[in-house]
Amino acid sequence: MTLLEKLKTPEIAEDLHDRGYSRRDLGRIAALLGGTVAIGRAAPALAQQSARAVVGAVRIGSNECWTGPLPAGAAAAMKIVTEGNRYEPNNEHEKLFAAVSAVEGLPATHIRAWPGSSDPLNRVAVTFASPSRGIVTADPTYEQIWRTGAWLGAKVTKVPLGPNYQHDVKAMLAADPNAGLYYVCSPNNPTGTLTPIEDIVWLAENKPKDAVLVVDEAYIHFAGTANAAKLVASRSDVLVMRTFSKLFGMAGMRLGLTFAAPTLHEKMMRYDGFQVSNMLPMTAVACGTASLPLAAEIKARRDEMVAVREKTIAHIESRGLKVLPGSHANMFMVDWKAKTPKQMMDAFLAQNVQIGRAWSAYPTMSRVTVGSADDMAKFRIALDKILMA
Ligand SMILES: Cc1ncc(COP(=O)(O)O)c(C=O)c1O
Repeated sequence: MTLLEKLKTPEIAEDLHDRGYSRRDLGRIAALLGGTVAIGRAAPALAQQSARAVVGAVRIGSNECWTGPLPAGAAAAMKIVTEGNRYEPNNEHEKLFAAVSAVEGLPATHIRAWPGSSDPLNRVAVTFASPSRGIVTADPTYEQIWRTGAWLGAKVTKVPLGPNYQHDVKAMLAADPNAGLYYVCSPNNPTGTLTPIEDIVWLAENKPKDAVLVVDEAYIHFAGTANAAKLVASRSDVLVMRTFSKLFGMAGMRLGLTFAAPTLHEKMMRYDGFQVSNMLPMTAVACGTASLPLAAEIKARRDEMVAVREKTIAHIESRGLKVLPGSHANMFMVDWKAKTPKQMMDAFLAQNVQIGRAWSAYPTMSRVTVGSADDMAKFRIALDKILMA
């Protein structure tokens, strides 16, 4: 059965119809879930400014890790290449779930694995948002869900971050009390700021019962603080997303996780069974399984990043520029004052340094990713040259 045929089966078609989707929307939903329309990271051309890599430049524009997988992860991936003839040489998915379960304290039944975060984010949007049930996010935040909402015809409500650049969860609920999906990104992209767990719990407890709260924790290992994973053990209306693309240095290898009650996962999987989830390249699965339990190595990577970030921020501020405070992730936002983010991006590129872009909520700022100590030394030299020119 094709995806479109599946969407037309009475059980799914009725649910979609009840939530305000028309028959004409089914093709759009099938294109989104089938990956024939690129909404997420796979489609940099759709992003405001293309994230196309400048080969050879200092790459601090895409929030990638400055280095590859943890050595034990890379070794596990390389070892399994020699068994690439087997679909799954030794129950690798099960081993991944056992490792995640031990680290997060969640039953394996609540864990699913994906090739990154884009697909589950689209699925959860189709399943809980619709033309009659909107999406609420912070502003600025990671905008994939904005594009997905627009594609699905769901109203997207963007709520400014609070005074400490945390998600203003009360304002988010007030802005659309009947939304189908509330999205919290913590640490937030592009500000790096955290939203306290108590606020996340508050939103889970006060949103409409049939809405879902998605907590995107792509950068949580860089923060090293409390996370929302445990919420899914006691609630069936919260989905937590993780990715190995950031601290674990696996952006090109593609591995992500969702944590949710089995009923929630089943609902978002019903369109095409198990096509994308839990059918991953063994190299990524082996690498993730070996990396996740390495608490000391994770902390060392986090500490390295924090030291480089703070040194760089101090340098920028010593030049009279403002850095948005409170980042707990491998990024920060700089306010350039006299120059526009586009001018600064071009000026840095002329110095062979590729910085990130601006968000419309903060039009005078650029996002800068924290690279290696060497990358950031080059960034500082380039900045001084630009300011002196
Ligand atoms: C907050 C957030 N979520 C999810 C993603 C998607 O990452 P991936 O698809 O590599 O897992 C990103 C990527 O930058 C991100 O910043």
